[in-house]
Amino acid sequence: MATISATTFIRLFILLAAVACHGLATTSVALFRNTEFSVGRCRLVIEGTCPDPDVEFFLYTRSNPTDAQIIAVNEGLLNLTSSNFNSSHPTKFIIHGYNSDMDLDVLVDIRKAYLDEGDHNVIAVDWSRLCPGPCYPSAVYNAKFTGKCIAQFLQELRLVGASDVHVVGFSLGAHVAGFAANNLRPYRLPRITGLDPAMPFFATVNKDQKLDACDADFVDVIHTNAFVQGKIERSGDVDFYVNGGISQPGCWSDPNPFGCNHHRAPAYFAESITSTKGFWAWHCSGFVPFLLGLCPPMYPAVVMGERVPANSRGFYLVATGAESPFALGKWVTSPEDEPRHKLRVGFSGVNDIDTQGSRGAVPVVLEV
Ligand SMILES: *[C@@H]1O[C@H](CO)[C@@H](O)[C@H](O)[C@H]1NC(C)=O
Ligand SMILES: *[C@@H]1O[C@H](CO)[C@@H](O)[C@H](O)[C@H]1NC(C)=O
Repeated sequence: MATISATTFIRLFILLAAVACHGLATTSVALFRNTEFSVGRCRLVIEGTCPDPDVEFFLYTRSNPTDAQIIAVNEGLLNLTSSNFNSSHPTKFIIHGYNSDMDLDVLVDIRKAYLDEGDHNVIAVDWSRLCPGPCYPSAVYNAKFTGKCIAQFLQELRLVGASDVHVVGFSLGAHVAGFAANNLRPYRLPRITGLDPAMPFFATVNKDQKLDACDADFVDVIHTNAFVQGKIERSGDVDFYVNGGISQPGCWSDPNPFGCNHHRAPAYFAESITSTKGFWAWHCSGFVPFLLGLCPPMYPAVVMGERVPANSRGFYLVATGAESPFALGKWVTSPEDEPRHKLRVGFSGVNDIDTQGSRGAVPVVLEV
């Protein structure tokens, strides 16, 4: 079965890669090591073995906040003991997406925020050589292999006693986290956070092929560019549709509005780690009721991001400001609301999440 799907995929890959790589100097098709194909610079790993030098792990801690320690997974043994890794601190994995790497600014912000907030082992995963542009099809295929290598690392972490492990994946990296989880069964990770999970090729596949609520004890997802680069369907135990989940305030004036919308998911998440206001969200029964204007802001509110309670379930809406810092704190509902048509929400401008007065309120109107 694996062979059939691999064969089918190779056909699709060669077809799409040939189109995508048109114009690159090297478009020769090479087969090497019996397990990989490459078309131009698009490398496709069919049945690779982990560890693989192209899936790298970089450790950051408060003792080395900017200079990473490379952690190699060799023959089942980590060189963690000679590093600053401390298994009594929470461990955060950060996985980038397609055509990117671990130094993407918004992912670096997440890394820094964790270290500002307290003692953490932050592990930045870099698989950039397996997901370069314009090779989206091979990146999607390699996401599964990358997940397998991350799972191997996660297994080793369990052996050194790290139990508080949280995997944060952006875009295609969110599905990589799902693939890592599939390789760990029957063990389940405590938590996975998906930041605007990628949509292309993932819209119709079954749940073993993408991030879903079964991949960890708790899966929270932040959607900021659904339909375009992210997915509209729910992927987690709790899904937050920020500003409706499709486009973000302030992004239309950006030179790259779609990139801006997509990158807001990690930007909001990074801010949530240290925010004193918080991104407070309200429940809605789904996307259609939201579009019909049936979801006015309603308490009880749930906080989105790093501090979301693990018992949160369902579809939530959140509003933000147009520029950093984005969090608005808790809202106050204005009396002239026409909830069936319009969401008019005033946010307290004071730096206190529990303040419900209208002092300094910034009105935010979501028209649907
Ligand atoms: C782990 O091993 C790799 C080489 O295998 C080395 O480059 C790296 O510095 C080691 N890390 C630590 C923290 O000792
Ligand atoms: C690990 O962290 C704990 C709690 O912060 C601390 O007490 C302990 O000394 C640390 N271990 C090492 C080897 O630094």
